[in-house]
Amino acid sequence: MTAQGLPMVVPAQDLPARVRIHEVGPRDGLQNEKRAVPTEVKADFIRRLADAGLTTIEATSFVHPKWVPQLADAEKLFPLVADLPVELPVLVPNERGLERALALGARRIAVFASATESFAKANLNRTVDEALGMFDPVVARAKDRKVHVRGYVSMCFGDPWEGAVPIHQVVRVCKALMDMGCDELSLGDTIGVATPGHVLDLLSELNEEGVPTSALGVHFHDTYGQALANTLAALQHGVTTVDASAGGLGGCPYAKSATGNLATEDLVWMLHGLGIDTGVDLDRLTATSVWMAAHLDRPSPSRTVRALSHKE
Ligand code: HMG
Ligand code: MG
Repeated sequence: MTAQGLPMVVPAQDLPARVRIHEVGPRDGLQNEKRAVPTEVKADFIRRLADAGLTTIEATSFVHPKWVPQLADAEKLFPLVADLPVELPVLVPNERGLERALALGARRIAVFASATESFAKANLNRTVDEALGMFDPVVARAKDRKVHVRGYVSMCFGDPWEGAVPIHQVVRVCKALMDMGCDELSLGDTIGVATPGHVLDLLSELNEEGVPTSALGVHFHDTYGQALANTLAALQHGVTTVDASAGGLGGCPYAKSATGNLATEDLVWMLHGLGIDTGVDLDRLTATSVWMAAHLDRPSPSRTVRALSHKE
């Protein structure tokens, strides 16, 4: 570590020069908080994240407000941040959600599929195929409007009800989303059970089935402390889009064993130490997570936030 609280830069071979961080804190993080966060605080959170150099910030969800009450203020929040010079993707499960998002001028949406039947039912009240059928017109309409579409696939590496998830089951859902017209996919380890070999197997299998690495992002949770090891494996494979949540906020309201997402600060510490450019100012980002933790009345679970905020 350098005197300024930055990692010493020691590049390693065969890694990308730059990584795009897809920040999910305001959506994936806050959707799971017990404490209601006022809309103005959420807007301030997004502004601070943009100010810290994050360029893709998932802002909220246009889902049924009874299913995710924490994000029921999407109509109020989105206009408060729409002027920011960053990408602000929003989650949209169906045509009703798409209408709400388009009415506010959203330019990036994400549909969210599941690799398993149990989670599709719990999260979307649908079978896997019914959910894909629900997304089909959403993606088509979004593409007509030149709106960028991300397709999440949850439970890619394990499921709390079904246990191990066969790779072919994940690949089938990924291919269906690509065939629909999604611009990119995000491979979700929703309960954080993946290990690096498993990640590499899934990425290779997807490539063999015609899904290029350039269309793949990774979304790890740190339940078993594997998120950074899995990220490094994905980077070595050529992945350059990594999801993370400021301060390690979040989980998933419909997957009880999903603890925190990979913390953006932990990710940035590793990437900067490897000499990989992210555009993120780690001090500003850490200050934002410390500020947010005060609003949530609990400390951030991110090791990097803890280390940097106690460095004197
Ligand atoms: P449903 O109850 O089956 O809904 O829920 P429905 O289609 O039968 O419609 C019932 C009523 O809801 C209708 O109203 C609709 O208009 C209304 P009524 O005619 O009865 O008056 N409705 C809506 N209202 C507002 N906005 C909407 C909307 N849709 C329907 N968009 C539904 C189906 C998909 C809506 C529901 O299950 C839902 O909203 N689920 C979202 C759950 C969610 O957001 N979970 C968290 C996502 S996190 C995740 O998936 C993992 C991820 O983070 C990756 C990772 O961490 O690994 C991505
Ligand atoms: Mg997540």
